[in-house]
Amino acid sequence: MKTAFFDSGIGGLSVLHEARRQMPEEDFIFYADCIHAPYGEKTPADVQRYVDRAVDFLIENGAQAIVLACNTATSVACTALRRRLSVPVIGMEPAAKMALDLDGTRRVLVAATPVTTRGEKLHELMVRVDRQHLVDLLALPQLVRFAEADDFSRETVLPYLRRALAPFDLSAYSSLVLGCTHFNYFKDSFRALLPAGMRLLDGNAGTVRQLKRRLQETGAGDGGTGSTAYYFSGRPAGADELSRISRLMERLDRMRAIE
Ligand code: DGL
Repeated sequence: MKTAFFDSGIGGLSVLHEARRQMPEEDFIFYADCIHAPYGEKTPADVQRYVDRAVDFLIENGAQAIVLACNTATSVACTALRRRLSVPVIGMEPAAKMALDLDGTRRVLVAATPVTTRGEKLHELMVRVDRQHLVDLLALPQLVRFAEADDFSRETVLPYLRRALAPFDLSAYSSLVLGCTHFNYFKDSFRALLPAGMRLLDGNAGTVRQLKRRLQETGAGDGGTGSTAYYFSGRPAGADELSRISRLMERLDRMRAIE
């Protein structure tokens, strides 16, 4: 049994990182469509086409479940994929409900890509869970570009985030929701700018729990050898890319410890 984790780029590694902790013996495939990243600045029609192509590749290569480790791909393509495919498809959406369940009186800031913040899927979620209109949406496309360029330095990231967060009175907010898997690499910078009482939330642990439930329901997920095969836009990762992945995983170890 192989589960594939798919993202436009390296953001999906943060979901794989969590899956490795919760499901150490499973066999995984990781696919980053780096040639086409960032998805968040493309048209939905383009994103749909890229996702279809990647997912077909993953199924041809033995994936028996697909995790869209990407809020943008989920927003655009998840419904159509579930209709078209017979394997389980687990999507991700910004953890706004979790934020409102934790605190239903103060405001919540959901940061995501422009495609996600403009998308119908997030607006439908808001209608369902944000009855009191407590949620504000913020697009942070540049963080995806910084991550793809391996630029996590505070000199680059802090001025961008400071400008983006300036219009918000953060003392009125209970949480910032990381609604893009690439944003997990920047928890240190977010933490440096947010008030101490403001939570940083992401959907990775919940997504992996949902994957485990789906695999149990379908009778799959009975353990493997704990392997992961890595692909970049349909090509197996080379030695340099594998060492980049292990550097990124080390960064994610550090980011995971930041609340
Ligand atoms: N990592 C993705 C997400 O969760 C998309 C980033 C992008 O390609 O713009 O939304």
